[in-house]
Amino acid sequence: MNDGSSRFQLQSVAFFGRTLAEYLQMLALDQEGLRGLKILDVASGPGSFIAEALAMGLDATGCDPMYNGDPEAIVAQGKADIDACREQIRRNPGALVYADIEAFYGDKYAALERFAADYAKRRCDGRYIAGALPSLPFADGSFDLVLTANFLMVYAPLEAGGMHAGDSFGLDFHLRSVEELARVTRKELRVPGMHTWKQPPERHPYCRPMMERLEELGFAVTLLASRYDDGCNATDSGCNQVLVARRP
Ligand SMILES: C[S@@+](CC[C@H](N)C(=O)[O-])C[C@H]1O[C@@H](n2cnc3c(N)ncnc32)[C@H](O)[C@@H]1O
Repeated sequence: MNDGSSRFQLQSVAFFGRTLAEYLQMLALDQEGLRGLKILDVASGPGSFIAEALAMGLDATGCDPMYNGDPEAIVAQGKADIDACREQIRRNPGALVYADIEAFYGDKYAALERFAADYAKRRCDGRYIAGALPSLPFADGSFDLVLTANFLMVYAPLEAGGMHAGDSFGLDFHLRSVEELARVTRKELRVPGMHTWKQPPERHPYCRPMMERLEELGFAVTLLASRYDDGCNATDSGCNQVLVARRP
């Protein structure tokens, strides 16, 4: 397990994505509960959530700053970023510890492959929209369910418990982002990973201020347990939680 000296850290935001099964587990969502909802995934990355959701007849849209890129170039970026994360763990095996690291990385390459085909096919259909927090290109209340995973909290500065070796995404950025996510949410917003990325993991220092900001905006806010293995031992520590904010 990692201690402070062997922490996983990144100089920039990785273009790294997950599968729909990982999303459901990470966000404590039930697949059937998604039916009939207009869903937005912000910081959607090169994952297969959107492709798989659309294939099941769900109404899902992804938004990411990389979605103005040429398919070949962004898929190459996705492959390079997965390889680099894996290499960091190979060099420093304690940095993140997964129950099954082969399965974890197998899912990332599978998600990228599915994303590549779907992004090339649908990027002009309005399902993959370029946009970046804290200013999204959508009207107020456009989506029933808004998700954002593995960008907020994770890319907080190292000293705030994140894994970003920089200070672009501090508390002020997080609060402006959560206000923006709230603005486009008609019913519910979910943000997973409310723990720090150091050992032992603990409640993220940005969690409480984000909950309070959402409450000020009129949302009912709770934390639900997640069983997703993000390599941080957070489930065993009892702090692997998803922020769920609902409009009353
Ligand atoms: C680690 S990936 C997470 C992808 C996916 N949500 C997941 O959980 O697998 C982080 C994503 O955040 C995106 N990103 C970077 N800056 C952003 C910003 N200001 N607003 C929204 N997304 C951003 C990156 O392009 C990248 O795709």
